[in-house]
Amino acid sequence: MKKIILGIETSCDETGVALVEASGGLRWTKFKVLKNLVASQIKIHEPFGGVVPNLAKREHLKNLPILWKRCQVSGVRCQDIDLIAVTVGPGLEPALWTGISFAKQIISNFQFPISKLVGTNHLEGHLYSFLLPRKTRSKFEDRRSKIFPAIALIVSGGHTVLLLMKDLKTWKKLGETRDDAVGEAFDKVARLLKLPYPGGPALEKLARLGNPAAIEFPRPMIHDKNFDFSFSGLKTSVLYFLREYPLGSHLETSPLLKITNADIAASFQKAAIEVLVKKTMRAALEFGAKSVMLSGGVAANKKLRSDMRQAIRKLNSDMRHRTSKLKRNMGYVKSNGRVNFLVAEQKYNTDNAVMIAAAGYMAYLRKKKYPLRANGNLDI
Ligand code: KG4
Ligand code: ZN
Repeated sequence: MKKIILGIETSCDETGVALVEASGGLRWTKFKVLKNLVASQIKIHEPFGGVVPNLAKREHLKNLPILWKRCQVSGVRCQDIDLIAVTVGPGLEPALWTGISFAKQIISNFQFPISKLVGTNHLEGHLYSFLLPRKTRSKFEDRRSKIFPAIALIVSGGHTVLLLMKDLKTWKKLGETRDDAVGEAFDKVARLLKLPYPGGPALEKLARLGNPAAIEFPRPMIHDKNFDFSFSGLKTSVLYFLREYPLGSHLETSPLLKITNADIAASFQKAAIEVLVKKTMRAALEFGAKSVMLSGGVAANKKLRSDMRQAIRKLNSDMRHRTSKLKRNMGYVKSNGRVNFLVAEQKYNTDNAVMIAAAGYMAYLRKKKYPLRANGNLDI
């Protein structure tokens, strides 16, 4: 049975409203995007170099009715909406409340039963984004049985979490950041390099012009046995480096080489990505994963996507070339097949309401009920 889901996302600085058609159950779920609208607040927050919560709230209040009006799709009447999925956390509470109140208003205007309203976890939105449709048919669609167990890495502005997923409704947190999220580190380093807000995409762009081997920044916790992360030390190393060698100065070790901010950006990005990829691969090996999922705003980073893809290819090729005995000795005990790489199209990595509609539908299937109030610290 098909269901029409209205998704509403206002957890941070993007107002998102989307209409999604969902079908299938917990064994396999399919989504068709009918409308995907995002109003970005970049221009508003840019002069402040970061998100200003009260301005975000004001913009959501302004944008929500506009997007809702534009969200009319031919063939779908408002009365046809089966579920309204709204983000209840994590995020900025004043911003979250705007979405929740708006969703409640729709429920009341159309005299829908309150049971149509599904509180949705923003992180589950990222997690389930691999289920969203792609322009190019991905190979894994034909191998649905080869997804679980999966290792899921969620990398955003507020979170860096590694999960072990047993199926679409069961997962366990393996580790997370102990301080800054990786997106936060990208944003802070971008600010040190005087790049415009939002920092992550600007830093990635600049890094393309730099030498990633120019500076050996630390790779925090890369060799630790656990699956936790730490990125604040890496950011501080960039700060100390800039104090010692202001932009445009020369490295002592190679006085002929002028350090550029592109070199710093590329070297920082390399260090951060290396930690993410190494730990994800180690988890994939240890738990015999059949797939690795990458999601969240930082997953929009092309270098991270390509390095993760390459590492998975190497893992697959290593596995093909080892004898069973060697595989056992090296820890490939549970893994006996190919590892697939699952990542959504770039537009579904950064915040959007399509992923919220999808996660709302999954919460409905799982009978998971989040209270309909803003929870800035909601966990996954
Ligand atoms: O998921 P998201 O849109 O919002 C949160 O849930 O936090 O993630 C936003 C984060 C920001 O820190 C932003 O700088 C980062 O994702 N980001 C990137 C890129 N695009 C967005 N970081 C690195 N490279 C990018 N291309
Ligand atoms: Zn997000």
